[in-house]
This record gives sequence, structure tokens and C-alpha cells, in this order.
Amino acid sequence: METSRPLAAVPFAPGHVPVLGNLPAFGRRPLAFLAGLRLAGDVVRIGLGTREFVYFSDPAAVHDVLVNQAESFANDAFLDRIGPLIQDEALLVLPYERHLPYRRRLNAQFRHARVPEMAARAAENARELAGGWPEGRPFRLDLALLRLSAANSCSALLGRRLPDAEEEAVARSAMTIGALLTARAMLPAWLSRLPLPANRRFVRACELLRSVARGHAAEDSLLRWLDATLHDPADGSAGAEQLTDERLTGDAATVLFGGIETVSSAMAWFFWELSQAPELAGQVWDEVASVTGGHQVSGGHRSGFRLLEAALWETLRLHPGIVFTRRAEREVTVGGVRLPAGTELLVSPYAMHRDPALFPRPDEFDPRRWLGRTASAGHAFLPFGAGHRKCLGDNQAMAQMTMSLAVIGSSWRVEVREPGQVSEVVAATTRPDRLEAVACRR
Ligand code: HEM
Repeated sequence: METSRPLAAVPFAPGHVPVLGNLPAFGRRPLAFLAGLRLAGDVVRIGLGTREFVYFSDPAAVHDVLVNQAESFANDAFLDRIGPLIQDEALLVLPYERHLPYRRRLNAQFRHARVPEMAARAAENARELAGGWPEGRPFRLDLALLRLSAANSCSALLGRRLPDAEEEAVARSAMTIGALLTARAMLPAWLSRLPLPANRRFVRACELLRSVARGHAAEDSLLRWLDATLHDPADGSAGAEQLTDERLTGDAATVLFGGIETVSSAMAWFFWELSQAPELAGQVWDEVASVTGGHQVSGGHRSGFRLLEAALWETLRLHPGIVFTRRAEREVTVGGVRLPAGTELLVSPYAMHRDPALFPRPDEFDPRRWLGRTASAGHAFLPFGAGHRKCLGDNQAMAQMTMSLAVIGSSWRVEVREPGQVSEVVAATTRPDRLEAVACRR
């Protein structure tokens, strides 16, 4: 008979002290703290002040939480961290039985039907924005990529670009939200309700994205589709979610936010990683040149960008989201541990992707590990999460990044300046603190 142990028998992560728990260790070096958790065993408890999380480093247990036993876990603690963006009930916090059918309907459009159109727009945006980069003079590549991601996110959801000042405000707001999200996720909820300057900035940034989501969609856009489909009172199909305006605004703002910091950080890290491996960089851009044969990059070329896409997967392995959370809705056993209802769990793609037992030579940037193998295979690779809450924008992000990078690389030779000076900033993902580059026309 299989035995299970009580949660109280699970040890705390190293560095646990009375009252504050693991807060000092986590606060000092969050990334090193997360990456070191595997050394403490398959499962540990993490105390952060009054909050306690369970962390599994075994991918099979994580897969159980996200996929096999997903109906026993909620994501409603998300309201604490992102409440001002979504306001009330919303995609991010719907319980399993309402989330699943809603996501199935969204998936058809967001993850499949509209992706080629999003890829084409991303190529167009890259041509326009990168076309204005200064030649031969240093510029902030990270900010330029942030701007491009905001343009891509607006094009994908709203079906059109916004005027410069508004698009820049969208980009800044998404970064503000991302910068504060991890702390809000892990610290006690009451802290995020205090009238602190950081909390006020967070609320203002959420309000800006909500106002953009309310007012700017083009006729044939994804947002109009969402509005029409989910406002339809005649829609009696199984699991149909009837949206209020408030709900639509929250979900649209979530989607707008979801694709900006994540995508721009990944593209910035992509250039940084290539700057550390010039020979590989040459091969990536030679592949783009040979696939396009000197023609303008188009959707038909995408399947030929194999090394470029492998390099993107590898970038997402080394630089994914830091953490996401779940809460057990009922008592449930995972990885041999009985988790009482209300237990909070922490999943860390960052830590899992750097575990040498799961990825040999984990700190080495080696895109070839993805050639000839599907990047989604295996439960240890979680850049977009897994299960019914897997990223709604996974295919969109990959298409936008591949096309944008191919366009940039086919017209510019980008050289990162002082690549050794970059440090990782913890936001929703990690991002390079400042990435300066010089671009020369090919
Ligand atoms: C490199 C880019 C991206 C990364 C690394 C990323 C990562 C993730 C991860 C890990 C999750 C799962 C969180 C969880 O299980 O709690 C997620 C969810 C989500 N992502 Fe992304 N994401 C990216 C791009 C995008 C884009 C382009 C969009 C725009 C549609 C987007 C929209 C969302 C939404 C709406 C959810 C919540 C889905 C739900 O709860 O049903 N993401 N993302």
C-alpha cells in the first residue's frame, strides 16, 4: 500500500529562521535561493513571513499539480497580486470547471487561428521599428525590444498599432506591473494593499492597460471577437462564459500585459546569449539568410528558421518566469505528501530549468539540445506552464519572436556592448538590467 506523509513532516528550505522564515534568504538572492531548493530534496516548505509555500523539485509532482490533478488546485491567490488589473473574477482566477471550457474557446483563436496573422504583423512591426534604429551608434536595445513587444501585443489583440506616446505608455505600464508582480505574489497580501508608492504605481499601470483595452480595438480584431462571442446572450453552448464589460476589460488587459514584459525580456536575453557565442550567432543569421534567399522575411519562411527557434527555446530555458503559484482547494496527495485544503504551492520554471539532473550542463547556452526534439516534451520544461492554465500566448509569443528576430537579424548586425556587465533583474521573468548595443546594416 502506498503511504503518504503529512505536510508537517516536510522540512523547511535551508536558511529558515524564526518569524521571518526564509524571507531573508529569499530576499537577499531570490534566484540563487530558488535554484538551490533542489539540493534540499524533492519537496520543501518555504516560509515567507506569515505565508508558507510547498515547493516540489520533482517534475512528476509538478505535472501532477498542473495537469493530472489540476481540478484540485486553484489560481485564486492571483487576485492578491494582480487584482487591480482584473478587478473581480476573470480568466486568471476562474475555478477549474469554468476555466477549462472558457480556455478551450479562447485557445481556438488565440493559440491557433490567429497566429499566422500575428506573425505577419510582428514582421511588419519589426521592419518599421527596427528600420528607425540608429546606425553605428549605441542605443538601448532592451528598450527598443520592449517597444517592439508592445507594438506586437497591441497588433495581436487590438488589430492595430497605437500612436507612439500611447504605445510607449503601454510598454512602461506592462514593465511596472511585471516588476512588482513577483514580490506581490510571494509577500503577504496585506502589503500590496498599503498606500505605498509602489502599490500606487502598480494600480496606475493597471488602470492604463484597462483603459487601452476598453477603447481601441479595430473591427476585425481578436478583442472584438472576444467581445462579440462572449457577450452573446443567445450563446447557450456548454460552458459559455457570459462576460460583463468589466470582465472583458480585465481579461483583455491581462492578455495585453501577458505578452509584453515576457516577450521583450526573452528577445533581449536572446541577443545577450548570442553575444556570448559569436560562432553560433553567425550560424543563426546565416540560416535566416539562406532560408529567405535575400527576400523579405515572410510567414512561409518560419519553418526553416530551425536554429533560430532552437536558440529561442534555449533562451526560454535559461530565462523563463521566476515563479507561479497554486492553492489546494481540497486535501490532495502529491509526491507522497498529504496537502491540506488551502496549502499554497510554488512552481519555479527558473529553478527547474537549471537543475543538472533534468538538463545536463544546465548553465550552458546550447540550442542544439532542442534540435530534432519537441521543446514541449518532458515535464521539466515549463516556460509557458502546463495544463489548462498553460500560457494563452505560447504560440503567439513564439511566432512573434521568431519573425521579429528574423527581420532584425536579416537587416542588422547587432553587437551588444559590454556583455559582461549585464545583471539579471527579477520581474515576472528576469530581464537584463540594461542592454546597450550598436547596430550596423548588413
Ligand atoms: C515569452 C513569452 C511568454 C512567457 C514566458 C509566458 C509565460 C506564461 C506562464 C508560465 C503562464 C502560466 C502561469 C500559471 O500557470 O499560473 C502564462 C499564462 C498566461 N499567459 Fe503567458 N507567457 C508569454 C507570453 C504571453 C503572450 C504573448 C500572451 C498574450 C496572449 C500571454 C498571455 C497569458 C495569459 C492570458 C495567461 C493566463 C492563462 C490562464 O490562466 O488561462 N503570455 N504565461
